[in-house]
Amino acid sequence: MKTRKSILMTIMAVLFCLAMGSSQSSNTRIKIETKEDAPIISKHIYGHFAEHLGRCIYGGLYVGEDSAIPNTNGVRNDIIDALIDLKIPNLRWPGGCFADTYHWKDGVGPKENRPEMVNRWWGGVIEDNSFGTHDFLNLCEVLDAEPYLAANVGSSTVQEFTEYVEYVLHKGGSPMADYRQQNGREKPWDVKIWGVGNEMWGCGGNMTPEYYANIYRQYATFMTDWNNSDGIYRVASGASEDDYHWTEVLMRDIPKSLIEGVALHSYSVIDWDDKGPSVDFTEDHYFKTMKKALRMDELITKHVAIMDKYDPEKKIDLIVDEWGGWYNVEEGTNPGFLYQQNTMRDAMIAGTTLNIFNNHSDRVKMANLAQTVNVLQAVILTDEEKMLLTPTYHVMKMYNVHHDSKLLPVSFDSPMYTYGDDELAALSVSASQDQKGKVHISLTNIDPSNDLQVNIPISDLDVKKFTAQILASKNLQDHNEFDEPNKITPEEFKDFKVKKGTLEITIPAFSVIVFEGQ
Ligand code: AHR
Repeated sequence: MKTRKSILMTIMAVLFCLAMGSSQSSNTRIKIETKEDAPIISKHIYGHFAEHLGRCIYGGLYVGEDSAIPNTNGVRNDIIDALIDLKIPNLRWPGGCFADTYHWKDGVGPKENRPEMVNRWWGGVIEDNSFGTHDFLNLCEVLDAEPYLAANVGSSTVQEFTEYVEYVLHKGGSPMADYRQQNGREKPWDVKIWGVGNEMWGCGGNMTPEYYANIYRQYATFMTDWNNSDGIYRVASGASEDDYHWTEVLMRDIPKSLIEGVALHSYSVIDWDDKGPSVDFTEDHYFKTMKKALRMDELITKHVAIMDKYDPEKKIDLIVDEWGGWYNVEEGTNPGFLYQQNTMRDAMIAGTTLNIFNNHSDRVKMANLAQTVNVLQAVILTDEEKMLLTPTYHVMKMYNVHHDSKLLPVSFDSPMYTYGDDELAALSVSASQDQKGKVHISLTNIDPSNDLQVNIPISDLDVKKFTAQILASKNLQDHNEFDEPNKITPEEFKDFKVKKGTLEITIPAFSVIVFEGQ
């Protein structure tokens, strides 16, 4: 039932639109600045995450050396090609919650000798450990992606943990380096980024922040790069969403000499007990999902404010190492496998979230979309030998022009997407200039019904010509399917003109556009 207040607000909104001649015709001016001291958008913001969960690793990425599906050391070639094309900068592994159950020694050595384990968090399935550390780190080399090893704290020991670091990084002549060499890898791998446990407030051990801060200090003390990589980069397991107390305690209690990054996890989930469907969602579901997605800006701002208090020089980075949309699993699939379809709604989450990260790139230096294949907001889905690229994949690829580019700060008053008596900013924008001087502007319009008119003064940008790509579709629920894998793919976008030093654009409802200017 609508309240009197909401009826009044609706009448006022209608009157406002009539006075303005409808929200479609209002014109939003976006100011783009060039600032010498603006931050570089780290390519690691565009990172991915592959957990031993459902069909992400087994039956997804990894089909085994004997599979009829073409593979390299057991990893599907079509997925390798797609991830190389995407330019994935880093890959987080083996979890997630799985990480704090994982004993790395079970996943090295001859595959036939590896013990089985039960995946206690994700469906209780039995795993044979055939995909282990060598398989993962060799894959990262093939992908030219930096590995991000999330190592076990919750059910491990300092000894097991530090032996893992030694096994991976020591050059030779140490017990663990010898063990690695016996297992067929002469040189150490170049692994800089290490997670010290995952979700320690929950599946990592249900710890208090005070207790974890002490445990973290203990583990981090014994971590060394063995003069192999250019220093070890330790990421503390971070807060869930708005648990600001968690960040406060870690920042207060962990000496700066022991930490390089502090994590944050936030999913675009409507309600943990009623997540809604991944495809047949209503506008109500859509609005609530986008509200959660856009909240990322507030979460980062508030966690960063705490970090600024303890670390004004911004030595410690904020790492959003789990983010993405989370819905009910597809009907008929294992509830513990978190398999969901990926629609234009997911493209909207990706477009807006990546803009938020770019615009906070002075502190957010890395992020990991959950997850790479067949789990949550995946960029790739597989069904036996078939594979498809999701709308999220396409957004990540369109946006990869921002990798390691200088942020061009943007300012504008967003038109609003109104639903019932609530509203959200409809427009999300970020911009950057790459090392060759090319300017890129990414724009996402989440309003499902209204196109947006925007204009961008460009005389300060030294750009002669623009080209653009768009990701759009007829319905918000549209998605790629195995028998129609290219229903949604980026296309050339032409609905813009440059007039008197201003770029004028009509952004279609629920679309993502990336401009390149040179
Ligand atoms: O990404 C799925 C799960 O979500 C991860 O294992 C965990 O860290 C988080 O709760």
